[in-house]
Amino acid sequence: MRGPSLMQVAIAAVVAGGLALALHRPEPVAQTVAPSARAPVETPASASASVPVPMAPAAAPAAALPATAEAWTVPDPDALPDDIYGRTVRRGRDLIARTSSLIGPDATDPAMRFAGNGLDCQSCHLRAGTQQFGLPLAGIWGVFPQYIGRENEVRTLEERVNGCMERSMNGRPLLVEGPEMKAILTYIRHVSAPERVGRSLHGRGSPPLPLLTRAADPVRGRQVFAETCAACHGAGGEGQRLDAAEAGEVGRRYRFPPLWGPDSYNDGAGMARTITAARFVHANMPLGTTFEAPAIAVEDAFDVTAFVNSQPRPHKAGLEADYPDRSKKPVDAGYPPFIGPFTPEQHRYGPWAPIQDWLRANSEASRTTN
Ligand code: HEC
Ligand code: HEC
Repeated sequence: MRGPSLMQVAIAAVVAGGLALALHRPEPVAQTVAPSARAPVETPASASASVPVPMAPAAAPAAALPATAEAWTVPDPDALPDDIYGRTVRRGRDLIARTSSLIGPDATDPAMRFAGNGLDCQSCHLRAGTQQFGLPLAGIWGVFPQYIGRENEVRTLEERVNGCMERSMNGRPLLVEGPEMKAILTYIRHVSAPERVGRSLHGRGSPPLPLLTRAADPVRGRQVFAETCAACHGAGGEGQRLDAAEAGEVGRRYRFPPLWGPDSYNDGAGMARTITAARFVHANMPLGTTFEAPAIAVEDAFDVTAFVNSQPRPHKAGLEADYPDRSKKPVDAGYPPFIGPFTPEQHRYGPWAPIQDWLRANSEASRTTN
């Protein structure tokens, strides 16, 4: 049931021209995605139409969404005039969508190589950060500065961007005063309207998932990966690299990004945590899936993520200094020091409920401020 039919649909859609064609289009918001078996996806035409762009699929108009849901509208940078503000917003979008060629390993000027792997911000912040529950950047302007447990301090949006630069992008921080950071911030500010200060749009991050009562199983996950992910991300998780001509044209290194290996996110990234990654995968993968119509079962999402994150990837030095207040360390953080009397495996794969229970009972004792 899983597997063949889903993959046939995904591959057929990709072959039918969706992604390959879209790679030749510079505007990331208009990128075509492969529809999954059940999830209707916007066409590029509707995605690049007028302002603001309605991001809810036609099948589920805002009025039909649950009472808590809010309309998801994202202003279109292409509708801005060709002035300094408009150009800065579009530059920010390009930096999100074509990170590897503009500020990554393929930048022509070596001094501009800030990102250290073959990913683009858009590899995870889908559709240049405009997709609801696809780790959107739209809507987050008004919620920073914000407390971040990893550093146990209030962090600015610039610092949060640089957190992904050093971990998800396995690179070095952008200059906070530099034109690249300004462009990224201007883009986030633009696509965030109409946010409310102190509150993000409904659709931030990725939707919560019920945790499994058993440990996630990387052996079973390998099977899910082979059936459901390998066609795009490669049998060895290495992704599908574009040839030099194509890469030059679209400004990206990969048609399908690597999930592990030297060109992927490092072990300190949010995506290296099983719960964080399973939520993203369940709501968004195979590409074209939306949170309203997930394509894989919850346990498949946990198992495949456990498998993906058991594979080798770059190591970030100094991770033991993360979460100086240990009681704030996420239960699925896979690196020491670990909270509570649990094995590293239980942190990586679960079951996490016993760790959560322990934390609730011992939050005072586990609080440290070194
Ligand atoms: C490998 C996947 C990945 C890549 C690539 C990536 N990020 Fe992230 N990013 C994440 C995840 C996962 C989170 C949420 C982490 C969490 O749960 O705390 C996040 C969070 C963020 C946030 C905070 C969002 C919020 O809702 O609070 C910002 C801003 C951000 N990333 C910017 C960037 C930028 C800019 C780039 C490129 C330079 C980038 N990211 C590349 C995975 C990624
Ligand atoms: C139809 C092709 C396709 C399939 C099948 C697919 N993905 Fe993806 N995936 C993509 C693309 C393309 C991106 C990057 C999105 C972009 O750049 O716009 C991506 C991004 C990702 C990312 C974040 C970026 C990175 O490299 O880490 C993860 C994690 C991921 N996919 C996991 C999975 C898993 C797990 C499966 C199987 C359940 C899967 N994907 C199935 C196409 C696919």
